[in-house]
Amino acid sequence: SNSYYSEQYRPQYHFTPDSMWMNDPNGMVFHEGEYHLFYQYYPDSNIWGPMHWGHAVSEDMVNWEHLPIALYPDDNGYIFSGSAVVDKKNTSGLGQDGKGPMVAIFTYHDPVGAANGENDYQTQGLAFSNNNGRTWEKYPEPVLKNPGIADFRDPKVSWVEEFSKWIMALAVQDHIEFYASTDLINWEKTGEFGQEKGAHGGVWECPDLFPVKIEGTNETKWVLLVSINPGGPQGGSATQYFIGDFDGKTFSTTQNEEKWLDHGSDNYAGVIWNGIPQSDGRCLFIGWMSNWLYAQKVPTQRWRSAMTLPRQLKLRKINGNYILASAPVKELETLRLKNRVLLVSEVSGYTLIPTANISVMQSEMLFNFKQNKEGNEFGIQLSNKNGEKIKIGYSQNNSELYIDRTEAGTANFSDEFEAVHRTKYIAKQNLQFHVFIDKASIEVFVDNGNAVLTDIFFPGVSYNKVELFSTKGSTKVTNAAIWQLSSVW
Ligand code: FRU
Repeated sequence: SNSYYSEQYRPQYHFTPDSMWMNDPNGMVFHEGEYHLFYQYYPDSNIWGPMHWGHAVSEDMVNWEHLPIALYPDDNGYIFSGSAVVDKKNTSGLGQDGKGPMVAIFTYHDPVGAANGENDYQTQGLAFSNNNGRTWEKYPEPVLKNPGIADFRDPKVSWVEEFSKWIMALAVQDHIEFYASTDLINWEKTGEFGQEKGAHGGVWECPDLFPVKIEGTNETKWVLLVSINPGGPQGGSATQYFIGDFDGKTFSTTQNEEKWLDHGSDNYAGVIWNGIPQSDGRCLFIGWMSNWLYAQKVPTQRWRSAMTLPRQLKLRKINGNYILASAPVKELETLRLKNRVLLVSEVSGYTLIPTANISVMQSEMLFNFKQNKEGNEFGIQLSNKNGEKIKIGYSQNNSELYIDRTEAGTANFSDEFEAVHRTKYIAKQNLQFHVFIDKASIEVFVDNGNAVLTDIFFPGVSYNKVELFSTKGSTKVTNAAIWQLSSVW
């Protein structure tokens, strides 16, 4: 354990950089028993600056080991977001001793070109490692040049077995472009998607393209994740998704409505891990737990920003409608210390829950609520002795889930922070809230991940009180449980 990690808002079981600025997760790849996590990193300040790739590894996505910075800016520019693969068959020829290398493909952002008003300052670069990502060598020149479009970035590369090719999804201003390669070095454009679909309130960034089996069937659909900034449903940055098909060249969909991966304010630029063995088969996701609206102003000093919990994305078809659900990965169960099953079966008004000596600020909670017939609003409120509180709830009248952080604590760093984040949700008779709290964040997984809301907050002192509420009539509660979670640092 690290003495710095006792700072007031330091997450205890989420990934944070030891110090300084972090944004997007990058280059996630599983290789020889290790989950690699790289990330947009500026080691000289706690605000955004010339980008590097920070690096950490884990055997379970929960306990992380910090490693030295993997990629530094060079003459071609800053190292923006991108992905990493294991080139098992050594298609690139960059391997050693008959072994394939790890290959990172990222965006070079040339600040000089950008300052001079040129429009080709973002290109795609490549680096490779023959020692499990411990040291990297850059390929001498960009592998994908810029055709003259300012926003041309965030390559997500993966091996697509069905087409025996490397496929790259690239964010290009207001659409996604697809490129194919057999050697990771020569890329050919094969298609475009998006000008007529989805949300367009901001620039498109950080795409991901992958197949997922619809839960409980043998049918596979393709998912396209697209982060957008600004223009998210809660203001600022957010991640939308499309469910459709990929023919080896381009993505298409009949989807016309906007769909959002997370309905809170603080989950951005996330993508899934490459290299997950078929025997595992999960789509494992992590996002940046902040929002460009205020990320550089939040009240932490030594470091800024955390990642979300690792999540398993699941594709569900519910009443003919596709939902990309997010569930906390099962590895998180190893964090559970003492388990307390709460003695509560019915609430009306505000009912204090006896949490005994469990510290709410580092906990996991589970509650099943049963809707009554009275147009009720029910949920969970966490509060402290200063009267600061955060509320998560469901409004039966409006068919709406929400997190209310209008009185959650310090918010004077930004006019946009105090808000209620709402989303339409048609609940069945029972509704499950599965909640993770870690010092300065709350992640609410609803009905096994059919909806998720992620928000950060900064109370003056710890929340130590848990209340359940039911505004009209009483609400039945079952399976109420709370766990103290351990620190991983
Ligand atoms: C998304 C993003 C990416 C870019 C990176 C720069 O948050 O803007 O598009 O590559 O951050 O740090």
